[in-house]
Amino acid sequence: MDPLHNRPIVLGVSGSIACYKAVDLASRLVKAGALVDVVMTANATRFVTPLCFKSITHRPVVDDLWDTNAEMAIEHVGLAKRAAAILIAPATANLLAKLSLGFAEDALQTTVLDTRAPIVIAPAMEGDMYGATTTQEHIARLRARGVVFVEPESGRLASGLSGRGRLADAETILGTLRATLARGGDLAGRRIVISAGGTQEPIDPVRIITNRSSGKMGFALAEAARDRGARVTLIATPTTDALAPPIGTELVRIGTVIEMHEAVRAATAEADALIMAAAVSDYRVAHPAEQKIKKRGAAANGLTIELVANPDILTETVGDFVRVGFAAESEDLLANATQKLDKKRLDLIVANDITGAGSGFGSDTNRVILVGRGGVAEELPTLPKREVADAILDRVAAILATRQKGER
Ligand code: CTP
Repeated sequence: MDPLHNRPIVLGVSGSIACYKAVDLASRLVKAGALVDVVMTANATRFVTPLCFKSITHRPVVDDLWDTNAEMAIEHVGLAKRAAAILIAPATANLLAKLSLGFAEDALQTTVLDTRAPIVIAPAMEGDMYGATTTQEHIARLRARGVVFVEPESGRLASGLSGRGRLADAETILGTLRATLARGGDLAGRRIVISAGGTQEPIDPVRIITNRSSGKMGFALAEAARDRGARVTLIATPTTDALAPPIGTELVRIGTVIEMHEAVRAATAEADALIMAAAVSDYRVAHPAEQKIKKRGAAANGLTIELVANPDILTETVGDFVRVGFAAESEDLLANATQKLDKKRLDLIVANDITGAGSGFGSDTNRVILVGRGGVAEELPTLPKREVADAILDRVAAILATRQKGER
């Protein structure tokens, strides 16, 4: 479930040229199902009209603390108390200074001062203003009070100069907001390690042995785990390069099985769960050629490549964490999956028939059977991978909860 769904979010907008980007943010928030109340500073209304936001959110926009005609003018207290989170984007240097010092001069400052909800701030300003000692001092003070910052990006600024000061992109801002909202989720504080994609074993500097895994299932799991409050390490192969890593997760890029094994070992040292969604090559080339293999000579009449067995990462990574495997099969689905569950001593195996339509490699949907210890199987309908991810994490959260009870 998207942590923005049905959640009251205050979007604070201050007077920067990046205001127009806040219109897009409002629209994305609404699309995600959030109940968005926009609070604008007086300067922000010079760049974008309140009507523009009102048309998107279908709710009144608060832009004047003293307008006795406005429905929500004295509502700022209600807004501050009701909000699940306050997102300020863009935040100017002036606003950061006022918030850091606790000013309550307008509706936005008052709302911030009055709230107990988490606050996410995305600054936008000239590079030198952002880098100024005073601005950085204000940011440090706000951070120390628990405010989450989405750093501006470097690039060309409105002045024509270059520097760090451009409002972060919408996905980064909303990813940070989602991660902040998820702090109270059922996986809050849990560390979850997820592998994704197909490994790549070099034959020579040009060729590789790989497979058809796109990594979509693993990335959906990482996003879903983050949205439930987990600290996620996502170990991803180059076959996932086209996918955007979920904001707020730790991304470790690897290529070969040996590299993945090492990354999984390091990341699981303090993990609560390991989910191996990656398609791992069972074999690697015994002696990868240092130079490109040429067609001339022996290779002209066919080529034999010697393969050696790779370690089985799931079997060899042991520890006190929940262990989840995948079984992508083209025949005898349940029998093969149950066998792997036992052999690899897993808590849960996600069995999927890769031959079905709308299922398996590259697809945005998946049709799986979840098999737990003792062979208890739950067949799910064809679902978007994000929903499959949440069903898997429901099981992981339940196993973690029982284990915790057992410890007491
Ligand atoms: N796996 C692993 N290390 C390997 C091979 C697989 O950790 N060397 C993990 C996969 O990430 C997956 C599970 O084990 O979660 C099952 O993978 P799969 O390739 O289906 O199983 P194999 O044990 O390789 O069996 P087979 O190839 O015979 O089907």
